[in-house]
Amino acid sequence: MELALYCPDCGYYDREKDSLGRRGDYYTSVSVGSLFGELLGWQFAEWLEPGRAAGRKIRIVEAGAHDGKLAGDLLAWLRQYRPALFEPLQYWIVEPSRRRRDWQRQNLAPFGDQVRWVAKLDELAPAASAAPRPQDSARGWEVIFSNELLDALPVHRLGWDAQKRAWFEWGVALEAERFVWTRMADKAPAPGAPTAEELLAFSCLGLPLDNDLRERLPDGFSLEVCPDAAAWWRAAANALAGGKLVTFDYGLTADELIRPERPAGTLRAYHRHQASHEVLAQPGEQDITAHVNFTAMQKAGESAGLQTEGLLTQAQFLTRIAAQTWAAENRFGAWTAARIRQFHTLTHPEYLGRSFRVLVQSRG
Ligand SMILES: C[S@@+](CC[C@H](N)C(=O)[O-])C[C@H]1O[C@@H](n2cnc3c(N)ncnc32)[C@H](O)[C@@H]1O
Repeated sequence: MELALYCPDCGYYDREKDSLGRRGDYYTSVSVGSLFGELLGWQFAEWLEPGRAAGRKIRIVEAGAHDGKLAGDLLAWLRQYRPALFEPLQYWIVEPSRRRRDWQRQNLAPFGDQVRWVAKLDELAPAASAAPRPQDSARGWEVIFSNELLDALPVHRLGWDAQKRAWFEWGVALEAERFVWTRMADKAPAPGAPTAEELLAFSCLGLPLDNDLRERLPDGFSLEVCPDAAAWWRAAANALAGGKLVTFDYGLTADELIRPERPAGTLRAYHRHQASHEVLAQPGEQDITAHVNFTAMQKAGESAGLQTEGLLTQAQFLTRIAAQTWAAENRFGAWTAARIRQFHTLTHPEYLGRSFRVLVQSRG
């Protein structure tokens, strides 16, 4: 999955410039129009304003920014409707793909050096001024966020062998020039690699995987586990000086993921708006995603000292923001017919409203 998506020569994310939106492989909240970025602009401004008023350094950090459209929508809205906040604001993008950083630089050129880039989270300078003693006013105040990043990180795929009552890991082999799934059941994992049971324990953090549930799982039940996503979230939590850590992703809680009635797991490929289970086909030419385990993310953030403020559907999250703007159009802009159409797509349960969830955690 890592090679198929991120290989610099043939990975999907390094090849396909127009993979999102009407012409591409799938819709996202960003390809629907500028409203998503504008609503986030309103919410982020509400969160950042107390920091600005207290004289702290304020910034927004976006991880995995595709072509920079979301950053552009957000910044354009802030420039027009929150100029006092926009002026001192820094916008940092964490983006490992050099090609993507180049597209983003082109698209965000109008914002000059207000936008900065790093390739990795640990290259982010702390959001703090170089004060001799880290007093409150010297510590930064920020929003670190991502949209559809965690569901595009590589996963392990586990299967349940009902006869042996044991979990095994699926691997990928080459057979007659094609990739095929192969059971790694009886092979010892490579030195240092986690076993299927260890991966499972990781995925079910805090979940009683009792005998009754094991009894009811059908043979071949599949479950994806993504230690990379939890490691990313913990690192982002540790990087957060003060403020909010937020993600928008396809995802479920651990107990929703491990339900007998969801036997095939959530690993999917997307090509030209068709979802399929053929994730090994056409490597580099289709997107591959798996649902985020929000319970694992929540625990990862809490273990780094964050407080969980909420896990909402995208519809709930955006409707709360929109409700504030309806009473204050002069501070948001008019709700035109185009915006109302976009709002329906972003929040309707059959489009993007229910399958996307929003996790908000905070420090301070
Ligand atoms: C599905 S796209 C995200 C879509 C985009 N956020 C939007 O709203 O249109 C995934 C993005 O994450 C980037 N990415 C992959 N691994 C990453 C990591 N470890 N940290 C930050 N970005 C990453 C990819 O290069 C790509 O830009």
